[in-house]
Amino acid sequence: MKILNFGSLNIDYTYDVDHFVRGGETLSSKELHLFPGGKGLNQSIAASRSGAAVWHAGAVGKNDGDFLLKQLEDAGINTDYVKRLEGQSGHAIIQRQPDGGNCILLFGGANQRITKEMVDEVLAHFESGDFLILQNEISEVGYMIEKAAARGMQIVLNPSPMDEKIEALPLDKVNYFLLNEVEAESICPGESASAPEKLLQKLVLRFPRAKIVLTLGSKGSLYWDGEKILPQACYKVKAVDTTAAGDTFTGFFIGGLCQGMEGPEALDWASKASAIAVTRAGAAPSIPTKEEVDCF
Ligand code: RIB
Repeated sequence: MKILNFGSLNIDYTYDVDHFVRGGETLSSKELHLFPGGKGLNQSIAASRSGAAVWHAGAVGKNDGDFLLKQLEDAGINTDYVKRLEGQSGHAIIQRQPDGGNCILLFGGANQRITKEMVDEVLAHFESGDFLILQNEISEVGYMIEKAAARGMQIVLNPSPMDEKIEALPLDKVNYFLLNEVEAESICPGESASAPEKLLQKLVLRFPRAKIVLTLGSKGSLYWDGEKILPQACYKVKAVDTTAAGDTFTGFFIGGLCQGMEGPEALDWASKASAIAVTRAGAAPSIPTKEEVDCF
């Protein structure tokens, strides 16, 4: 069973600030770091570091994309389906506060120039049972879901960042959702995150075929495995940088399932991996290896 992640690749410009810049304010930052990132790249690296065989598909810019390709290759990920296009790679402007919290501004670049032809070409190499991991930072996500479902692939959607494009997707064809409370509230308007079990039950009613992980920040997560709800506590650590914590969780959870773990074991493994990630700076560089997670 393979994992294909058709996802974003970003150069993250991370600025250390005392507080997030406000409208009309000019703020000096303390430091600037350049990290490899993008929800797609981060999730691929996490799944690969978990020990799974990962193929990444997507697009980078011809002039600035080598840095991102090298990160994937160094992590042992197959990059045959990453195109190098004219123009710029995607990038993110990230403000990071002393408590590790962040806010992110995205520029799609090459990520938003994925075409239906590219999708057809890539999916032809994958078969029934293979996992397809998707987020909302590239073009043609809806087409990918339709085509992958027709091939019998297991579709994993992390509907992040949440925007109006998510509602237009064929969400009934998704096999696994990994989403946070804000994303869940947007998909199920009217339900409040202050009652997470109710929110999850609403999602289950709306997507009866899907398995669902609802992440709850410091309160851990809830997993609907198709029959029951399983709670997972969060491991308490001192946060340095929360960027890519969710991506690490997604990569380890799907990586664990792909390697034969049952849901609760994969969930616990993913929680440990994301706890380690928040104790380190950056997106992809913060993602631990399988050995580090097993020792945690
Ligand atoms: O989830 C974190 C990621 O979101 C960052 O690496 C940034 O590139 C954005 O895609």
